Amino acid sequence: MKLPHHLTIRGGHLHINGQDCIALAEKYGTPLYVTSEDRVVEQFESYKSALSARYPKVQVLFAAKANGNLALMRALAQKGAGADVFSSGELHLALEAGIAPEKLLFNGSSKTPADLELAVEKGVKVSLDSLDELHQLEAAAAAAGRTVKVSFRVNPALEVPTHPKIATGLATSKFGIPHQSIPAAYREALACNHIRPVGIHCHIGSQILDIEPFVRAAEVMVRIAKELTEMGVKLEFIDLGGGLGIPYHHDTDPAPTPEDYAAKVIPVFKAGVEACGIAPELWVEPGRSLVADSTVLLTRVNSTKSAHKRFANVDAGFNLLIRPAMYDAYHEVIAANKADAPLNTEYTVTGPICETGDILAPDRKLPELAAGDIIAVLDAGAYGYAMSSQYNSRPRCPELLLHGSSAALMRRGETIADLTAAMEQPGWQQ
Ligand code: LLP
Repeated sequence: MKLPHHLTIRGGHLHINGQDCIALAEKYGTPLYVTSEDRVVEQFESYKSALSARYPKVQVLFAAKANGNLALMRALAQKGAGADVFSSGELHLALEAGIAPEKLLFNGSSKTPADLELAVEKGVKVSLDSLDELHQLEAAAAAAGRTVKVSFRVNPALEVPTHPKIATGLATSKFGIPHQSIPAAYREALACNHIRPVGIHCHIGSQILDIEPFVRAAEVMVRIAKELTEMGVKLEFIDLGGGLGIPYHHDTDPAPTPEDYAAKVIPVFKAGVEACGIAPELWVEPGRSLVADSTVLLTRVNSTKSAHKRFANVDAGFNLLIRPAMYDAYHEVIAANKADAPLNTEYTVTGPICETGDILAPDRKLPELAAGDIIAVLDAGAYGYAMSSQYNSRPRCPELLLHGSSAALMRRGETIADLTAAMEQPGWQQ
C-alpha cells in the first residue's frame, strides 16, 4: 500500500514520524490517537507556498471542526494559520491557541444571540448566513458600540462529486444565501450602521477529489465580486472555503495536492479580481487536507472469530471514529505489528459498540490476526476524535502528539469519573 512519507514500515512494525506504533501502544495503551505534528505543519506549508507562489495575499484558515485539539491548533497558529470557526467553542479554542482575531472567520448557519455577541466582543469577522442574522448582528454591534466586518456565505448552486451528506453548495443545501439573492443582501448590509461588508465566502463541500468544482466556484465568486464592487462594496477578502479531498483509498484514489488546486484555481481568481480592479486577500479553509493523514488510530484486537465471515473485534468503534458508520467512509487499516506479513486473510474489523453498524473496515485483506495484535486505522486526523462520543459509556481515548522524536499527550484519556463529571443528581432523588 502506498504510504505518505511520515508512515514507514521497519522490522515489521508500522512507524509514524519515525516512532514505533507498537511501542507507543504499549506505553500509552489502546485505543490511541497518534498525530504527527510535523506532518500537519508540512501540509500547512505546502498550502501556503502553493497559493502564495501565484497570488501575493493569501490566508490559510484551518477549519477547526476537523480537529479541535489545542496543541494541533497551536502548532498551526505558530506557522501563521487563521481559522474558520463554526461555534463559540471553536472561537474560544482558536483564540486560546494564539490565532489573532483578524485571522478568524465565524461561520455558521444557525448562530445564537450569544454567538453573535461573542463575535462582536472578540472583534472577529462574521460570515452571515441569512438576512435575519444580518439584522441580529447589526443590533448586537450597535449595543456594543462597535462595527463588525462581515461576509455573506454564497450558495453557488454547484453539484460536487462527494457523499451527499457533505455536499454543502447544492441549490437545495441549508447553507448560505442563493447566489442570485446575494447583491440584495449586500445592499441591505451597506445600509446598516454597524456592519461593514468586506468579504464573500463559500464552501462547496468536503472530500472533493476533482479540482474542477473549485474552479467553478471561483468563477461564481469573482462574478459576484464584480457586481459587488460596482455596487460600492470594498472587498478585502474572498474566501473559497475548504473541501479538497484526500486519497483514503491509498492505491486508487486520485490525490490532488494544494499545488494542483492552486495551479487551476488561482488563474481564474486572479483574472477575475484584476477585471474588477481590486486586490482582495484570497482565503481558503482547508480542514481534512491539512490534518487527516497526520493521524493514526491504534486499536487492539480483543478477539477474532469465524462466523459467516471472519471478524476481528477491536477496542475502538464508532464512539471514536464515526466516519465509516456515518458516511460508509473507507479508511485503510494495517496490522501494525505484522506490517510485513502476507495479506492472506479477509477480516471485517468491528468495534465494541452495541450496534450492527459498528464496523470500522469491512472485508479487508490482512495477515492472520490474533488477540493482542494492533490495528492502525489510517487518515484519522480529520473528523475523527472531533466527532467522537462517550456512547455505550466508554471514556474517550487519549491523543498523542509527535514532534520529531518527542511524544507527548495532547489530551489524556477520559476516566470513568469523567463519564459522570457533568451529571447532576436531581433534588428529589437525594
Ligand atoms: N469551511 C466550512 C464552512 C466547512 O463547513 C467545512 C467543513 C470546511 C471549511 C472544511 O472542509 P474540509 O477541507 O475539511 O473538507 N464530517 C465530515 C466532513 C464534514 C465537513 C463539514 N464542513 C467527514 O467526516 O467527512
